[in-house]
Amino acid sequence: MEGTNLHQIGVSFKGSGSYVPNQILTNKKISKKVDTSDEWIRSRTGISQRRISGLSETVSEMGYKAALAAIEMSKWDLETIDLIILATSTPNDLFGSAPNIQARLGANNAVAFDLTAACSGFLFAVITASQFLKAGSYKRAIVIGADQLSSYVDWNDRRSCILFGDGAGAIAIEATNELDNLIGFSMRSDGDRGAFLNLPSQNNQDLIIDDITYLSGGYSTINMNGQEVYKFAVREVPLIIENLLKKTNFNSEKIDWLLLHQANQRILDSVGDRLNFSPEKILSNLTNYGNTSAATIPLMLDEAIRNKKIKQNDIIATSGFGAGLSWGAALIKWG
Ligand code: COA
Repeated sequence: MEGTNLHQIGVSFKGSGSYVPNQILTNKKISKKVDTSDEWIRSRTGISQRRISGLSETVSEMGYKAALAAIEMSKWDLETIDLIILATSTPNDLFGSAPNIQARLGANNAVAFDLTAACSGFLFAVITASQFLKAGSYKRAIVIGADQLSSYVDWNDRRSCILFGDGAGAIAIEATNELDNLIGFSMRSDGDRGAFLNLPSQNNQDLIIDDITYLSGGYSTINMNGQEVYKFAVREVPLIIENLLKKTNFNSEKIDWLLLHQANQRILDSVGDRLNFSPEKILSNLTNYGNTSAATIPLMLDEAIRNKKIKQNDIIATSGFGAGLSWGAALIKWG
């Protein structure tokens, strides 16, 4: 689909969907694998269980199911979708998994590509898609956050394996010339602190022929300094949200929901506290899913919309943060 120049002024949010794998890994079961306990994990993280992808539950498959549910809610014809962005750090095809989702959906007019920004990925993808829509280049976009971190977790490392799970979520966004429901946003990166949380490639040098060597491809497991990541989150997330609220003339009283990347309940509580949000406004479902990386925000959003917690025109302050390091915030009106 080629861009036109209609110069729309804003975006509106039309639908949501999500998918989680069937396998449930409880704290009790993890305790059989590493030296930990349900009590330790719950008290330090708030997590009780997480979902783990089975053989066919790839990022493409989970992303497809989440996208389909979002499209059904929005009642869009598949041919009218112009853009599909898949936020993921764990594509089942390194060349990109989004085109596979586009093909499965039969969204024949859409351009589809992946975007990688770890746990900030979904938020960065929503902002990216919105720029195409606000510029008038495209009219309708599907943004998906899907990750399968279970493939890259070191299942013998009790300091990190307890945190992560698999899943997908998606939303449908439309250009409009009447209003702008992406009220404001802010995005940040700090590669200097990247080593606090990363998943680097692990290459072995091998010989092609004669004296010509090459590096064979592969990845290590997730490498994390939990304490530093914790300090980063509880310092930077309140700051970026606070600045965004100032910039947009909002305050916590005027916000209906605080929707943070679901990393750790203690991070959610600490950020909510710093920003003076009452606990009822802090959305949380990480007890059931753990940290599903790019999927946590749309997974939580979809659950709250389908439970009728989030209603049309509710104001949501949302923030993604994680590896990169990367972090961002957006203020949106649902609908
Ligand atoms: N079960 C039991 N004990 C554990 C454990 C587990 N799963 N993991 C670590 N411990 C132990 C440590 O070995 C350490 O023991 P020691 O004092 O005898 O050496 C002790 O618990 C404290 O370890 P520490 O790393 O200081 O724990 P913590 O209070 O910082 O909690 C995290 C660890 C990972 C839960 C916490 O740092 C965290 O949530 N960080 C943020 C991580 C995150 O959100 N990453 C993703 C961001 S997108």
